Amino acid sequence: MKQGFAQTAFTHDAAKLFKTHCAECHSEYRLGGIGPALLPENLKYLRKPAAINTILNGRAKTLMPAFKSKLSDNEIQSLVEFIYTPLTKTPDWNIEKIKASHIIHNKQNNLPNKPLLNVKDQLNVFVVVERGDHHVTLLDGDTFEPVHRFKSRFSLIGEPKFSPSGRFVYFSSRDGWISKYDLYNLKWVAEIRVGINTRNQAISADGRYLLVANFLPHTLVLLDTRDLSPIKLYQVKNLQGKSSRVSAVYTSPPGNSFFAAFKDISEFWEISYADEPPHGFGMWMHDYRVDSGENTKPQPFPLRRILVNDYLDDFYFDEDYISFIGLTRAGKGQVIDMDVRKIIVPEIILKGKPHFSSGVSFNYKGRKVLAVPNFRKGIISVLDMESWKLIKEIKTLGPGFYMQTHKNSPYIWTEVLFGPNKDVIHVIDKSSLEIVKTLRPAPGKKSAHVEFTRDGKHALVSIWEKQGAVIVYDAVTLKEIKRIPMNNPSGKYNVFNRTRYVKTND
Ligand code: HEC
Repeated sequence: MKQGFAQTAFTHDAAKLFKTHCAECHSEYRLGGIGPALLPENLKYLRKPAAINTILNGRAKTLMPAFKSKLSDNEIQSLVEFIYTPLTKTPDWNIEKIKASHIIHNKQNNLPNKPLLNVKDQLNVFVVVERGDHHVTLLDGDTFEPVHRFKSRFSLIGEPKFSPSGRFVYFSSRDGWISKYDLYNLKWVAEIRVGINTRNQAISADGRYLLVANFLPHTLVLLDTRDLSPIKLYQVKNLQGKSSRVSAVYTSPPGNSFFAAFKDISEFWEISYADEPPHGFGMWMHDYRVDSGENTKPQPFPLRRILVNDYLDDFYFDEDYISFIGLTRAGKGQVIDMDVRKIIVPEIILKGKPHFSSGVSFNYKGRKVLAVPNFRKGIISVLDMESWKLIKEIKTLGPGFYMQTHKNSPYIWTEVLFGPNKDVIHVIDKSSLEIVKTLRPAPGKKSAHVEFTRDGKHALVSIWEKQGAVIVYDAVTLKEIKRIPMNNPSGKYNVFNRTRYVKTND
């Protein structure tokens, strides 16, 4: 579907049809309401035939009605073309609109600081996102019994983030909702809609702030985690004023800062959330805004721009958060040293398209290495993190996406996600860099996304199907222990493992 199509009479009729039949739930400009946003950015994972089917037949157990008796095939076809057509103007989701969306479900002060769940170890609970019917299941990581289930916003995206103590979890949804859930009281605390199409969120190491990356509009939104009230909105523009989608945000705990990577501009931003930002932070260059860059008094949450020579994306950070390896538009690796804020390795040539942000690092023969899966090719690239040289290419049965290990485990687990072997999970020995076992947990079905228990003794695998499952393996014998039916469990997150970004005793 080409842009400019919007001018034709065909879509003009579609716009009218949309207003009559759909706007009540999906909002007049397709930004979403009771129903999800219907914009090409948001519908990336919904194929057109599936959209047609949805409109024809509706969706069972949801508010989405069937239109087959109301609309002709041609009308439905033109509606589908319409919803996959970009808006002619980027929607303005400004701070007033963000504030107006804010919902407080339960005042945090009224919620007791005591876990309600009857589990041995509250920190060994898994938060399982079931995308199939937009629910979340809490799974006891000791007994592998589901202990609670609740409805989420439509289409959660990215990893949920946890407060340092593990009590709260923050979800982000495709359509821009950030939701705070209390894992002690099993209640929602607050929600806010920060954008129309969101990519991911990052939490500060102290747990006080969330930064959210949006594709639509081109903004970054900083929230106070206590009640999700917005603190600051950054319009993303480079020094020349070109605006950009945000591809992802990350946290750097040692620097008390966030990083943001962009899709359309060759800059990389660092935003300080320190109470007293380092002297001169963000003042080394004029900002595009009139109210910053000139004063000597630091602004709260200042940003500094790191100019890169390509659109860098998909980062892996070393443990000290000094070296960052990212993917250039051309599909090559590039390493930036954040101490000097310079590119130190301009080009690492790897086959296919490496997925750095899913990489895992570990010690191999006395050196620190990084293993990286690949979206395009059946290989895992292992890089020396000192010299950034490729030391091994492990052949797999097809391209993958995630990989996971645990400090107590001798193995790395990864999956084949694309192609005829999408049902495969590979287990790689960290000391030999060889595949030691290839599992097919559910032949013919997509298996993916491995997560360990707190102690690293078990590894959990998802079967990405409506009638899917979470399968528990003994991480030493590699034998199946249990199969728990789930509705497309896209991801599962062990509270303890996901709060290790900062040491905490509270
Ligand atoms: C009464 C409210 C309502 C009306 C009217 C309505 N929808 Fe929906 N629609 C929904 C809800 C709720 C969902 C989410 C269903 C789910 O949970 O899977 C949805 C989902 C969809 C989806 C799937 C989106 C996705 O990302 O999976 C499409 C496409 C869609 N609607 C198109 C339309 C069109 C076109 C019309 C008008 C002809 C329409 N809807 C009218 C409520 C509505």
